[in-house]
Amino acid sequence: MAPRVLILAVTLTSVSRSVGGGVGVSPELRKVDHLLNPARYDRRQTPVPHTGGPSRVTIELYIRSFGSISPIQMDYSVDLYLRQRWVEPRLEGSLQQPLDSNDPTLVRMLWKPEVYFPNSKDGDFQYVTVPNVLVRIHPDGAILYILRMKMKFSCMMDLSTFPLDHQTCFIQIASFAKTTRELELVWYEHDPVKMYRGLQLPQFQVKSIRMDTCALSFHIGNYSCLEAVFELQRNLGYHLVQSYLPTSLIVVVSWVSFWLDVDAIAPRVTLGVTTLLTVCSESSAFRDKIPAVSYVKALDIWMASCTAFVFLALLEFTLVNYLGRHRRRLLCSIPSQAIYPHYTLRLKSRTSHDESVDGAGVVSGGGLICTPLTWLQQANLAKKIDQTSRAVFPLFFLAFNLIYWLYYQVLV
Ligand SMILES: *[C@@H]1O[C@H](CO)[C@@H](O)[C@H](O)[C@H]1NC(C)=O
Repeated sequence: MAPRVLILAVTLTSVSRSVGGGVGVSPELRKVDHLLNPARYDRRQTPVPHTGGPSRVTIELYIRSFGSISPIQMDYSVDLYLRQRWVEPRLEGSLQQPLDSNDPTLVRMLWKPEVYFPNSKDGDFQYVTVPNVLVRIHPDGAILYILRMKMKFSCMMDLSTFPLDHQTCFIQIASFAKTTRELELVWYEHDPVKMYRGLQLPQFQVKSIRMDTCALSFHIGNYSCLEAVFELQRNLGYHLVQSYLPTSLIVVVSWVSFWLDVDAIAPRVTLGVTTLLTVCSESSAFRDKIPAVSYVKALDIWMASCTAFVFLALLEFTLVNYLGRHRRRLLCSIPSQAIYPHYTLRLKSRTSHDESVDGAGVVSGGGLICTPLTWLQQANLAKKIDQTSRAVFPLFFLAFNLIYWLYYQVLV
C-alpha cells in the first residue's frame, strides 16, 4: 500500500509542477503552463490567424556542415538548424518577456507545423548532450522553434562532364499532413538559407543558393513545399593532380621513343608498353570512385585519348622498325669498309640510267653487295617518320588539349 501512495504523491507533484508551477518558478513558466493546459489548449488544432486562411510558417535554414557528396550513392549529408516561426494567437498577450525552453514536455504540449523533407534519405535529431531543440515564445504569441538535425538528402547528379562538372542539389521542405488550405510554408524574408562562414567542402564550391517553391500536387490535396537549390562547382585541383597531370606526363614520356635509335628495339618497346600499361592502370584507378553510368564522362574521353596517343607512339615505332629492318640485314652482309664509297657510286649510276628501281634483289658489282635503293629510301623514310613524329605528336596533343579544355570549360 505504501509504495502505491508514494507513486501517487510523486505523480501529483509532477502534475502540479507542470501545470500549476511550484515555489520559485518564474511567472512566465507558470503562465505558459497555464495557457498550455490541455483543458484549454488542444495541440492538434492549427493556430488560425486573425485574418483567417492558412497558418503561415516561415522557414529558415542554417547549414552548419555540408559534405560527403557521393556520386555513387547520389546523395550528400547536411547538419542543419531548421528554424520555424509562426504566430500562435492562443498564446498572445500572456507573457511579459520572451520565454526560451528546450524542455521536451513543454515542446510536446505545443502545436507544431508538420513538416518533412521530401528528398531526404535519412535523418535524425541531435541529442548530445540534450535534445537540440529550442522553443521561444514571444509575448505577442510569435513562436520560434529550432531543431538541429543531421540529414542525408538525395541529389541526382549528371556526371557527363565529370570531373569538370557542376551539380545542382536540393533541400526540400514540405507540409506532410496539412494541405495548403491549413498550412502555408514561406521562406524567411532575410537571407533564409545561411551557410556556416567557415564551411569548406573537400571537392566542391558552393556557387550560389537559390530559394524556390515546389508545389506538391497529389490527388488527395495540394501541399506547401519549399526548395533550397545549391549550385555546386567541382574544384578541379584534386583531379588535375590525380589524373590529368600524371596521364599527360605519361603521354610526354612516350614521345621519348622518337629520339631513340630506330634499331633500339628493346628500349623502345619497353617504353611503349610501359607507358601504355601505366596509362591504362591510371584510367582504371578512378572507376571505383564513380558510378557505372551508361554515358561517356569527360574523364573517360581524356583517358581514352591519352591511351590512344601512347598506343599511336607504339604503333609508330612498329612502323619505323619495320621500314628500317632491311638496312640492318644488309649491313651484316657487306664488308664494312666498302659500303659507303660503293653505295654512293651505285646510287649515282643507277639513278642516272634507270628511274624505276624495284629493289627486289641484291645487286652485286666487283664482288661487293650493294644496297638496293628502295631499301635505303625506306630506311631514310623511317628516320624521317621519327623526326616528323617529334613535332606532330606534341602538336596533336596540344590541339587535343585546346579543344578538350575549351569544350568543357567554356562551351558546356
Ligand atoms: C491543387 O491546385 C490546383 C491549382 O494549382 C487545383 O487545380 C487543384 O484542384 C488543387 N487540388 C486539390 C486537391 O485541391
